[in-house]
Formats: sequence, C-alpha cells, structure tokens
Amino acid sequence: MANIESVLQETRVFPPSAAFQAQANVSGMASHQALTARAAADYEGFWADMARAGISWKKDFSKILDESNAPFYKWFYDGELNVSYNCLDRHLPEKADKTALIFEADDGAVRRVTYQALYNQVCAFANGLKSRGVQKGDRVIIYMPMGVEAVVAMQACARIGAIHSVVFGGFSAKSLHERIRDAGARLVVTADGSIRGGKMLPLKSAVDAAIALGDCECVEAVVVYRRSGDDTAWNAARDIWWHDLVNGMAQTCEPEWVNAEHPLFILYTSGSTGHPKGVQHSSGGYLLGAILSMQWVFDARPDTDVFWCTADVGWITGHSYVVYGPLALGMTEVIFEGVPTYPDAGRFWKMIQDHQVTTFYTAPTAIRSLIKLGSDLPRQYDLSSLRLLGTVGEPINPEAWMWYYEAVGQSRCPIADTWWQTETGSHMIAPLPGAVATKPGSCTLPLPGIMADVVDEHGGSVPLGQGGYLVIKRPFPSLLRSLWGDPERFRKTYFPAELGGKTYLAGDSAHRDADGYYWIMGRIDDVLNVSGHRLGTMEIESALAANPRVAEAAVVGKPHDIKGEAVVAFVVLKGARASGDEAKKIVAELRDWVGKEIGPIAKPDEIRFGDNLPKTRSGKIMRRLLRAIARGEEITQDVSTLENPAILEQLKEAVR
Ligand code: PRX
Repeated sequence: MANIESVLQETRVFPPSAAFQAQANVSGMASHQALTARAAADYEGFWADMARAGISWKKDFSKILDESNAPFYKWFYDGELNVSYNCLDRHLPEKADKTALIFEADDGAVRRVTYQALYNQVCAFANGLKSRGVQKGDRVIIYMPMGVEAVVAMQACARIGAIHSVVFGGFSAKSLHERIRDAGARLVVTADGSIRGGKMLPLKSAVDAAIALGDCECVEAVVVYRRSGDDTAWNAARDIWWHDLVNGMAQTCEPEWVNAEHPLFILYTSGSTGHPKGVQHSSGGYLLGAILSMQWVFDARPDTDVFWCTADVGWITGHSYVVYGPLALGMTEVIFEGVPTYPDAGRFWKMIQDHQVTTFYTAPTAIRSLIKLGSDLPRQYDLSSLRLLGTVGEPINPEAWMWYYEAVGQSRCPIADTWWQTETGSHMIAPLPGAVATKPGSCTLPLPGIMADVVDEHGGSVPLGQGGYLVIKRPFPSLLRSLWGDPERFRKTYFPAELGGKTYLAGDSAHRDADGYYWIMGRIDDVLNVSGHRLGTMEIESALAANPRVAEAAVVGKPHDIKGEAVVAFVVLKGARASGDEAKKIVAELRDWVGKEIGPIAKPDEIRFGDNLPKTRSGKIMRRLLRAIARGEEITQDVSTLENPAILEQLKEAVR
C-alpha cells in the first residue's frame, strides 16, 4: 500500500441555518447522534427497521445479515422485492399525474414525463425485452445517451430481473467490447447517436465495431433508439429499432419478484490492473442505500422538491441519484442531455431557474470549469428556488466550495460534499445538512450505520490528525457483493488479509481533524481521478503499449486546476526518441490511439519521450520519481542506481 501525504488545514465552519434545520428530515446533531447510537447499539435491528420503512417488499424478510461467508455478505436475504415496482408502481395510486422526469434536450427542448407515462414506457420496453428472449438474470448492456430512454431501459431491466450494465457513451468500441464479453450480454440497447454541445456523436457504429471485434456471439439483439437521425448500418437479423420493439406491446408488465440479493446491475470501474472491474450490486441493499441517502443527505421532500443530479447514467452517481433514488421516493427530477457550457456557461444556472430546481448535485470539476468561464454568471439568474447543493466525485478545493456556496447557493444553501464510490453504491461520508456543520473541503461525518475509520497497515485506528487508509469496518447494505465473474479479485482488492479479511478497504487515504471530520487525501492505488472519472494508470499504459510504435509506457497523474488530475504519459518508442515536429505528430497520434482504445476521457494531457524509463535494479518502474518529474518537483530520491540518469533530463521535457 502506498504512502500517505498530508493536506492543508481549513478553519471555516458553516453550521446549518435555523431555517434549514427547522424543516430538515434529520434536524440537529442530537437527532443525528441518536440514529448513530441506535445503529451502534443494535446494528442489524437498525438496518432492518430502515429497510422495512423505505422499501415495499413483496415478501418481508426474516433474516437480516449473513456474515457466515465473509466477505460475501448478504442482507435481507429471504426477502423478495422488485426495484422497478418500488420506483414506479407504488407511486401510482397517488402520483400517477405527477411529473417524474423533466428532460431537457441539448437544444433546450423540454419533455415532461409523468409517473404514469414512465410506468407505461417501462412496461412496454420490458415486454419488448421479454419478446426478444431476455429473462431474469440475463445481462443487458446499455450504451445510450443521457435521456428518458436510458432511464426506461434500466428500469425495464430491473422490472424483469435482467441485470443491466450501463457503459458510458464516451467509452470506445474497444472498451464496450471488453464489457460486452465480460458480462456475457444477451442484448445491447443503444441509440443511433447522441447530441451534446450541438455535436452528433455516433453510438450504434461503436456497437457494430465492438461486436465485429469478435467473441460476442452472446449478443442476440441490438435495440436502437432513434435520437440523432444519422444513417446507421443495419443488420436485419440482429438489429431492431426501439420504436418497432415497443410497438403494440402491452403497457403493463407484472414485475419479476426477486430475492433481495439478486444482482440489480453490474457497473465497470477502473482498478489497479489493466482490466476494469465489474462491480456487482444487489437489489434490496442497494435500493435501501439510494433511498436513505436521498432522505438523509439530500433531505428529500418528495412533494415539493425538484431534484437535479447532473451525472450521466453511465456512472454510479447517475444510477443512484438519477435512475433509482429520486424515483424510489416519487420525486420530480431534471435530466439533462447536454453539457454545462452549451450554448454558454450559464446553462446550468438557466436550467435551475427555468425548472425551479431545489436540490442540485454536481462535480467539483464542473464547478471549477464554470468559475473559470464566468464566476459572475450565476448572479444573472434567479436561483432562489435552490435550498441544497451537493458535490461528488473528487475532493473539492476550499476556493471552489466557497464559490459554490456564495455565488450559486447565495450563502443560504448548505453544501453536501458526499464521499462514496461505485463500490459503496450510495453516500458513505457526507453531512446530514440539517444537523452537521460543514467545512469547505471536508465530506464531514459518516452516515448513521456506516462504521468508517482511518487505520494503519495493520488495521489499527490512527489518532485524529494522522493520515491512514479509509476503511469501513462493518458490512453495510449497499456495499458491492462481488466483482462479476471474479470473486477472488473482489476478496483480495477490498478485504485484504492484512486488515483481517472483513474490513472494507476503500482505496483512499484520509485523515480526521480534531472534530472527527473526514478529509479525503487521494487514492492509495494506481487509480487517477480525472474530472471526477476514475481511470486506471495500468489501463492507459496497456493501451499505449498496444500501439505499434510504443516499446514501453508509464502513466502518472499530476494536479490540474480544473480536472483535479491530469494524465501524464512517459513513453519509450521503438527506435529513436522522437523530437521536434515528429514528436508532436506522434503525440497527436498516441492521444487519438488512447481515445480509440479506451475513450476520449483517457487521452493523456501530456506525453514525454525518453530513451528509457527510470527503473529500480529489479526492473520496477520508479513511479514516485515519475510523479515528481511530472509535477516539476525537485528530485530528492536517490537515483544513483539508475542505469542511465541522463534519461531524467529527457523526461523533464513535455512535448508541446
Ligand atoms: O477517490 C475517491 C473519489 O472518487 C473515488 C470513487 O470514484 P467512483 O467509483 O468513480 O465514484 C465516483 C462517484 C461516487 C473515491 O475512491 N471521490 C468520490 N467522492 C469524493 C471523492 N474524493 C473526495 N471527496 C469526495 N466527495
């Protein structure tokens, strides 16, 4: 496990206003502490109460937590439910005509979908999936633009017990291929293309290219939603238009009642090897996490809130806080197809004004880029509907936090900085905004029932003020259940023997201040966080090494003002080291290559060429040294063992 760095001290504290506290679901620290104490006193009873209060069960559970096969934990494991029933059917008696989704397209067109209409569409699509032979437990890949149909496709899978695996539309055909194969998908749902920032991006052609890469016999059908209107190559034996599939389908569909442990979805995320991990979530425990965090952290008021989480459904944030959490609570939510900077950097603020958004949740990278493009812009819009702001995905620097608080929240709205992961399914450490005073840059305190800690390499708690590994000591309902097809990797990655085999190792370092507040310091593994997206350095290295020009590559991160982290690649070419215009040409070529191998989000920001990479005697790449070089820091390490110290000089030069 890697070493731990320290962070700056922040002293500003923002207690909840009396007005916010008075109306909050969890009001005041005493209520927070009472929940936490309840969880500590009767852990299983606490979660069982929450699960009965939040979820409509078809068959109530009598078993709560099974730890007999740790770390393969089970929750509520003789209960039966359907997640889509919880998100749709149960609201219909009272809320059939309530708006579920306010969809704003890239070009500004707005479409409202009521709970009844959403139910009808989900049922019709679920029947369509069934007509193509999709059954409970089958895997369905969803590679769609952000929009109503992406939500419908996911909910329809949940309805029939099929396991969806959403692949973010920005991933390449190659990445898609890897995920289709790993999941063994029976069906792929896509669109002809997506429209973002006024530009059309093809999607269906990437699906065709992915399948053409081979070994995708598992895929029996590709369903294509018409969005961009682009011409699309067509394989009549396999492809079917969405509108043809649902045409004539019944608009009711009995939910498939599944066991609480039935996998709801797989979502691939980066780890420290070249291959992404298929994080597998349960139905009952996952849904509970989404519901509780909506109530606690987003202080949900289903009857009056307009909730907007800007994440794409391709990420866990879009799963929990677009597709499942808000709908499970019967809320009205905004979903947005486009980008924050189109047609201009006021887009988010205009949308908050137009749709009277009360609760807004976005990523620090978006906040930082919008500050840069117009720090006064929010003041030109009426943002008085807002009552709560949230952030997620990466540490937020105190300057960006303060701007968000003052310029967007008008010093009136609490900010929930939410720490969690694809693996945890829902918020883990975050303020309950009517109770916890916030500090810019800290995600504050664990949610009730989340037994977080900061430990040393033997698993012992470290004193306040000292850095260590962020862990969660007891299993909790929304925790991932396994890695798809690789339970051993699941065990080794998240429950290392050094920590006793039962403690969840998050992969982040953190420290707690004198008040016990958590401050996330960064990853302890070779995972980068670029614009809130998780990227494995090994994945980018393997992509580069697959290029015929490249002999060897090493990738590290360096701090970046807007993206949080930037990708720096050190590359050894086959043949002579490139320089001048030749080097520029190769850099452009390699960036494109990575874009095609993984996706545009993984393109290196900087590429540096050397005759070799710095290695230890045993041949290990000295990554710490590379990180120092990338940051332009003084090299303080002993480099006397390097075969060719002159390469350090070469690697200091970025090709511009
Ligand atoms: O390093 C932490 C960072 O993002 C990682 C999880 O990434 P992912 O699984 O893609 O999920 C992102 C959305 C939940 C974490 O290990 N991270 C996430 N939220 C925060 C954060 N770092 C600091 N503060 C946060 N609020």
